[in-house]
Amino acid sequence: MAEKGLDVLLKERRVFEPSKELVENSNVKRWMDKHGIKDYDELLERAKDLDWFWGEVAKELEWHKPWKKVLEWKPPYAKWFVGGKINIAYNAVDRHMKTPTKDKVAYIWEGEPGDVRKLTYTELYEEVNKLVNALKSFGIKKGDRVGIYLPMIPELPIAMLACAKMGAIHSVVFSGFSAKALRERVNDAEAKLLITCDGSYRRGKVVPTKKNADEALEEAPTVKKVIVVKRTGEKVPMKEGRDLWWGEVTKDQPTTADSEPTDSEDILYILYTSGTTGKSKGVIHVHGGYAVGTYQTLKWVFDLKDDDVWWCAADIGWVTGHSYIVYAPLIAGVTSVMYEGAPAYPDPDRWWSIVEKYGVTVFYTSPTSIRAHMKLGEQWPQKHGLSSLRLLGTVGEPINPEAWIWYYKHIGNERCQIMDTWWQTESGTFCISPLPITPLKPGSATKPLPGFSADVFDEKGKPLTGAGGSLVQLTPWPAMLRGLYKDPKRYQETYWSKFPNYYLTGDMARKDEDGYFWVQGRADDVLNVAGHRIGNSEVESALVSHKKVAEAAVIGKPHEIKGESITAFVVLKAGAEPSEELRAELREHVGKEIGKIARPDEVLFVGDVPKTRSGKIMRRVIKAVVTGKLVGDISTLRNPEAVQEIGKAK
Ligand code: WTA
Repeated sequence: MAEKGLDVLLKERRVFEPSKELVENSNVKRWMDKHGIKDYDELLERAKDLDWFWGEVAKELEWHKPWKKVLEWKPPYAKWFVGGKINIAYNAVDRHMKTPTKDKVAYIWEGEPGDVRKLTYTELYEEVNKLVNALKSFGIKKGDRVGIYLPMIPELPIAMLACAKMGAIHSVVFSGFSAKALRERVNDAEAKLLITCDGSYRRGKVVPTKKNADEALEEAPTVKKVIVVKRTGEKVPMKEGRDLWWGEVTKDQPTTADSEPTDSEDILYILYTSGTTGKSKGVIHVHGGYAVGTYQTLKWVFDLKDDDVWWCAADIGWVTGHSYIVYAPLIAGVTSVMYEGAPAYPDPDRWWSIVEKYGVTVFYTSPTSIRAHMKLGEQWPQKHGLSSLRLLGTVGEPINPEAWIWYYKHIGNERCQIMDTWWQTESGTFCISPLPITPLKPGSATKPLPGFSADVFDEKGKPLTGAGGSLVQLTPWPAMLRGLYKDPKRYQETYWSKFPNYYLTGDMARKDEDGYFWVQGRADDVLNVAGHRIGNSEVESALVSHKKVAEAAVIGKPHEIKGESITAFVVLKAGAEPSEELRAELREHVGKEIGKIARPDEVLFVGDVPKTRSGKIMRRVIKAVVTGKLVGDISTLRNPEAVQEIGKAK
């Protein structure tokens, strides 16, 4: 995949300086000028005063009641804007009704079949209010949990905003997740109501969303009502007394509704993410700090101005979409593009046609997508005028310099700086990322943003330069998670026990002599497949739930496009025979248990997997064998001979 000429650029280790024009007109530069700050280094220095910095930023939002204290930090719990009252949905929608933004388009939405819907801020406001009133009529109150299982259609942000506006807590479950995954999440959150749809379009086919939801709800006793959006018009069963059509329940509702004056620290949402055990973690975010953090980071990193057209090509089912398709762009009052379907459908230039058609100015995607487009070839973006683009971004995994250069050259036409944003579901916002004023090094997410502080530690907690170690955050930040739902012990152990008082990200990274961070990938047993976090143990438990499987060990293998691919070593129960059919069946089984994204690329049958004497599967040993790295001392294993088996099977 190497590009001619680009090798030279890479070899030169060229630093990509922003243009003078970009710097001069950037939001961050204007902010610096306003505060008499002369350069980036001074900004970083001044922003170390977290109370001052975040207090200044927070003034740009509308508060029902001002805060008494910016930060209260009692590790591992931080409270931001203590004593303040703010509603994030009010800031995202209602506030704009007092300004010309009310007539501006909030979302340009394109369905996979090509249908288009544009929603102005006023229309969005009215739709949100109608749903608030409908939810209230079903007895939903502040603090109640509402499950949302919707694809990329405008009703998804509307549903989230309606919950937020009334102080209910939303728990969005990615629409590609299986019935079982949905059930677990709905039950953990004890959701009272679920919002879903009949179906949606993906690669020209209809996805049976309602069918999955029905299956999930077979064992979800807390869910009393289901609101169903009509998207495809397919006939779906509606359960008497439980299921209601969105169109029906919102039709006659008033188009105004008061917003709940939520406390800064009131819970806004729960979003489940993979960890190192089979059970996913319910990450908690709150109204105040999250509103301030998402708004500010988007405005500064992607430099959004009034006439920008922003396209974050992620799915709202993940944190990227929560923060940067729903809350941040709406608070900033910008126009966003939202697309329902598959990226290269029906043709590989679908995305580029969208960029051209709507004049997208700032575009944000993942390294996996860039590599997939790189493989399809630059003839596809070349068919379209992409001159509207002025800034690009990536998220989700480390970007290899080749993909970076391809993106820079063939999408950005060598004019657009690339914002490689490092962050997590837990962080809520970008933490390590360039700003438009930052000189770039391809493959590095550059430095912690102003108001953030990160470092790389060795095993003993000593800062490292030039060598790989644990990536940690040294100070709290406004949009950080406030805990794991119903699991304070896991919160403490996962993030705060290795280096007390410092947040452990779970990533490995290296800091170079200029202070630039190079994120290397996960340190723990979490896979990153196409930018999706999947726990090794989640896939293993899905496999062992199959009647023919005795044991399973799952590892990630480097993959040219997806970053990592999933390989499963499976030990069958006595009497079960390995076969091609069983292999396919096991892949499908994982798809059904978790979702298609977690299906192993490879299923290999073995007689045993390497284990410690206490019976823990040694994934690291397996990975070393599979990737041809030295295995080291295996004499402490209970069954060293299993290592040879892995070697033969790979
Ligand atoms: C990885 C996605 C390198 C990292 C917003 C992190 C990255 C995990 C980058 C979080 C980046 C995200 N460079 N790695 N720019 N961005 N990651 O929770 O391993 O789905 O811990 O949040 O993705 O994934 P999550």
